[in-house]
Amino acid sequence: LVYGPLDVADTVIGRRDARLPPRRLRFVGGGDFEQVGQEFLGHFIELGGLQPGARVLDAGCGVGRMAIPLTDFLDESGSYEGFDVVRAGIRWCQRTITPQRPSFRFQHADLHNATYNPRGRLEPQEYRFPYRDAEFDFAFLTSVFTHMLPAGVERYVTETARVLKPGATALITWFLLNEPTRAVLGTGRCRPNFKHDHGAYRTIDEAAPEAAVAYDEDFMRKLLESRGLEIVEPIHFGRWRGTKSGRSAQDIVVARRQ
Ligand SMILES: C[S@@+](CC[C@H](N)C(=O)[O-])C[C@H]1O[C@@H](n2cnc3c(N)ncnc32)[C@H](O)[C@@H]1O
Repeated sequence: LVYGPLDVADTVIGRRDARLPPRRLRFVGGGDFEQVGQEFLGHFIELGGLQPGARVLDAGCGVGRMAIPLTDFLDESGSYEGFDVVRAGIRWCQRTITPQRPSFRFQHADLHNATYNPRGRLEPQEYRFPYRDAEFDFAFLTSVFTHMLPAGVERYVTETARVLKPGATALITWFLLNEPTRAVLGTGRCRPNFKHDHGAYRTIDEAAPEAAVAYDEDFMRKLLESRGLEIVEPIHFGRWRGTKSGRSAQDIVVARRQ
């Protein structure tokens, strides 16, 4: 209701950038859409060692926030696959990005997520990523496990490990709970503030648990290691816990497929 008229105004006054989705489709979180994409391209290159000729997987690709800057970085020998549970986002990417760059492909996965796809047919823990074993050089999940419950996260870590080549890299963002973070939870410094404790994870809203989910750092470490993903230290802790310094808003974990 708010963004529709703004989109119309953008088009009328010629402010609309056709490379970017209209505002009403930018359901992927706060911050400047373009800047966040550019920021993460930097993390992919500097932390993840992404190369222009890589075969890349973007699991939970939303509406192309990361794909758009990758179209400038990946060269003709590189390629990209993205999937997401929000059909409108995938459609926009298929109509706008793929015709310009046919090696960028997008698929809809009709999976249940109370926040993003409440009518999804399957649960994420039942999903097999639609790719072959050892197909990718680089996989990332940006602000996706921050919206998924443990059974789905466990399955997705297994699937991510399966589709990565040995020695390939995964970059995953999280809200991680550890001693220093627990000490500031409830002080009002953390944004979001994870009030509801479920042991290995915390949520902000019991009625809509996937609105935001934080995981215990030990749970994350054991999960990745048990699936053959070796964490590349250090973890890059983010600013969400109220600190001024931090590479990004969320915590960034880089891991290598053993
Ligand atoms: C905050 S948005 C981030 C989107 C994108 N990764 C980005 O950084 O722009 C969270 C995304 O996770 C997606 N998502 C939630 N559950 C999912 C699942 N089981 N499989 C794939 N994507 C999922 C949502 O549809 C949404 O696009």
